[in-house]
Amino acid sequence: MSLTRPASLNGNGRTRVLAGNYYTSSEILEREREQLFFKHWQYACHSAELPQVGSFKTFAIFDQNIILVRIRDDEIQAFYNVCPHRGHRLVEGAGHKRAFVCPYHAWSFSLDGKLLGARGATNSEVINTADICLFPVRTEQLLDFVFVNLDAEAKPLHEYAPGLADQILTSVPDIMSYRPAQDSSEEFGHSYHCRANWKVMIDNYLECYHCETAHKTFNDMMDIPASKFTLHTNYTFQVAPTAMKEKNNAFPLNLEHDVTVGHFWFLFPSTVLGQFPGVPGFYISRFDPLTPHETNRITTNLVPKEMPDPDAVRRDRLRAEWTADIVSVEDKALCENVQLGMRQRGFQAGWYVTEPNAHNISEHAMRYFHDLYLDAMG
Ligand code: FES
Ligand SMILES: [Fe+2]
Repeated sequence: MSLTRPASLNGNGRTRVLAGNYYTSSEILEREREQLFFKHWQYACHSAELPQVGSFKTFAIFDQNIILVRIRDDEIQAFYNVCPHRGHRLVEGAGHKRAFVCPYHAWSFSLDGKLLGARGATNSEVINTADICLFPVRTEQLLDFVFVNLDAEAKPLHEYAPGLADQILTSVPDIMSYRPAQDSSEEFGHSYHCRANWKVMIDNYLECYHCETAHKTFNDMMDIPASKFTLHTNYTFQVAPTAMKEKNNAFPLNLEHDVTVGHFWFLFPSTVLGQFPGVPGFYISRFDPLTPHETNRITTNLVPKEMPDPDAVRRDRLRAEWTADIVSVEDKALCENVQLGMRQRGFQAGWYVTEPNAHNISEHAMRYFHDLYLDAMG
């Protein structure tokens, strides 16, 4: 089978990977901040994390502090977390508010960002309070996933990644009934700090060439030669069937109740999401670069409203332990080792292995990520 690639996005057939300095340079990270992270859609949270009008949550994209707040039953809005009066941070953490009151001089704002009161200044000659509001950030949902974009001119998500929502719904038809996991035993081991550049981690996610050599237990559970990566506008999709073995070296599968085909997406530039084999569930992660050499992977795990069978809790726990103790540890070690390689004087730029008929040994999805990356970086 041939690669599926949008005609308009045919790469230039590069055979060499990004040079090592792309993974180590502060100047490159500075440009990525402006060109990628401040101009593209960034995953913020699941909408159920803001259950009521007034529920809010804060987070940051690099040094840009953001508030997410449910302003109506059916609407979540993001604002910059900064008071228009003199720039104090408006709110910390997460919780519930009827209004935002700045801790510095007590200016107050409605949930939808309008100025409610500017203490002592309402009749000021110099301030027209009607002009003052919180500065909004573009906010959209992909299914129940809330994304923000600091670029007011950015394309809406459905134009940016056409077909992605439908593809997820087709693969995981009951996803809208899933809810964020409540306790850490459901955490699934997908949030961690890694001493590697964020792109090293995404490169690793986008190929299963390493699965046979570096993930022995995963490889035993899966039928990796049958996996496929397809390329779409600003995203990739991997379908990865298991080998349909109830007993395998990763974790037990129930072939009647469990997911037996993994579905994994990557949304450019820094979001991954998917359904892992095993008890039904879903994960979505963003990669927050801390320095060129350090990244936090932040994950929301979703669980079904009800477990499919009485033994599912046990299988889910065994999978969570395997994910946290085995496969994430393996990937983290690979990425941290590669990061050291990126600064070796004896290393310049690697090579892509692209094999159109054997996606288990192909790095074409990773090359597509780099094609999008080079376009966006200018
Ligand atoms: S800085 Fe917020 S009220 Fe003054
Ligand atoms: Fe891996």
